[in-house]
Amino acid sequence: MLTPDNAFYVLVTGANSGLGLGIAARLIDEFLPTRPQDETLVLIITTRNQRKGDATITALKEQLRKTCRKAEKKLPGVSRVLQQRVVLRQERLDLLSLVSVQQLSKRLRDTVPKLDVVICNAGIGGWTGINWPLAFKAILTSWKTGTTWPTYKLSAVGWTTKPQLPPATDVSKREEPPLGEVFCANFFGHYLLGHYLAPLLAKRSQSEQAPGRLIWTSSLEAYEHTFNMQDIQCIMQTEAYESSKRLTDLMAMTSVLPSTQTHVNKYLGYEQPSEKTTKPRIYLSHPGITHTPIMPLIFVLDVAWRLVCYISRWLGSQWHVVTVDKGAVAAVWLALAKQSTLDTMEQREGVGKWGSAIDVWGNERVERTEVEGWGWGGEIGETPRKFGRSPHAKALTPQSKEKFVHDGEQCWAELERMRVDWERRLDEAGVGVRMD
Ligand SMILES: NC(=O)c1ccc[n+]([C@@H]2O[C@H](COP(=O)([O-])OP(=O)(O)OC[C@H]3O[C@@H](n4cnc5c(N)ncnc54)[C@H](OP(=O)(O)O)[C@@H]3O)[C@@H](O)[C@H]2O)c1
Repeated sequence: MLTPDNAFYVLVTGANSGLGLGIAARLIDEFLPTRPQDETLVLIITTRNQRKGDATITALKEQLRKTCRKAEKKLPGVSRVLQQRVVLRQERLDLLSLVSVQQLSKRLRDTVPKLDVVICNAGIGGWTGINWPLAFKAILTSWKTGTTWPTYKLSAVGWTTKPQLPPATDVSKREEPPLGEVFCANFFGHYLLGHYLAPLLAKRSQSEQAPGRLIWTSSLEAYEHTFNMQDIQCIMQTEAYESSKRLTDLMAMTSVLPSTQTHVNKYLGYEQPSEKTTKPRIYLSHPGITHTPIMPLIFVLDVAWRLVCYISRWLGSQWHVVTVDKGAVAAVWLALAKQSTLDTMEQREGVGKWGSAIDVWGNERVERTEVEGWGWGGEIGETPRKFGRSPHAKALTPQSKEKFVHDGEQCWAELERMRVDWERRLDEAGVGVRMD
């Protein structure tokens, strides 16, 4: 029988495609040989519809069978035991609908005893195409830089979600502010999800000391210049994708600072610590550069792009992991690593952004990644790493760190304000879901 003591609960959003599927499959592969034989992985995946959910469960069952067949060859009879150590469950989530986020949260709060890890993976690019002449020029003049920090993606401006509130009978009462589509899919939907699931992440069984982990997904393209505090949702400007990832970096890195704790504690519902709960932790990961459908391309171009990515890796780019299995390494490591390992690394090098990296031979690893205004660990004077740096990277200075922290504090204040405001609007319109 599953109990909070012998089951490890992980939720992965957007698991039907790309990295989400890679993360779910890799979780199964790494959990089985590294965790005690009496521990079960309860893997909850989310998709936008039932068809995608069914296909994902089928793919993951096949992955589990493959893993078991391999283990059976080494140790006859073990397959049946391993099969029973993974429980798969699917759920519906559309991050562009705040009600959908609330409905999923409520279902989980009613049916799951705890959550150990929530991997906020789903996301969209919000791009409308590629500036091909610029792409050819950028790649041919500087292959690694041109394929790692692209300057040729065309991004939409002004995309917003469908209305969150039902049509109003009294128009004056139902005005709703615009909600940026890329901002909502990549950040705000997950932000609300994390808030509602925080009580499940905080619940610990008697044997557990480690905090539940909320893993946010960023990117190498989380550039400082794309983020504007006056347009936090990036509705009025281009590069909404990059802006949403910069917001993710700002909030994740500053979530551990004393100056943000009033907001962070409210967000995590952790204003009054109790003996049976532990405050969840926010961790930051990115998958390097992985070949997925996030940028839709016609077949020939898609194959060409994959080849371009492999060439970048062979030229020495540590970020071109290319396959989803390898792109998943950072998120899965953050999900399964011992708490003492994570704590020791943070004590030694500070809080950082963990990325999936690779060598020319295809051996993947987890690598700390530079964040503009934070460096690798938020420590002034840290030794710059030689590899994997953007050509535009600047050394961390007290001024740049001060700005980063200040922006992070402002973002926490603003996002908490937005969360409470939207909850009120949904409640007043009669569509908000009560969590208790
Ligand atoms: N690929 C890369 O090189 C790369 C690099 C850096 C960061 N990332 C990040 O990695 C994450 C996964 O990206 P990917 O490359 O694997 O892209 P992908 O293959 O397009 O997968 C995106 C996933 O998110 C889901 N999704 C999109 N909009 C959603 C919504 N409104 N509600 C719920 N789910 C939604 C998609 O579901 P549907 O199939 O229903 O649309 C899909 O399952 C994203 O956060 C992305 O920013 C990717």
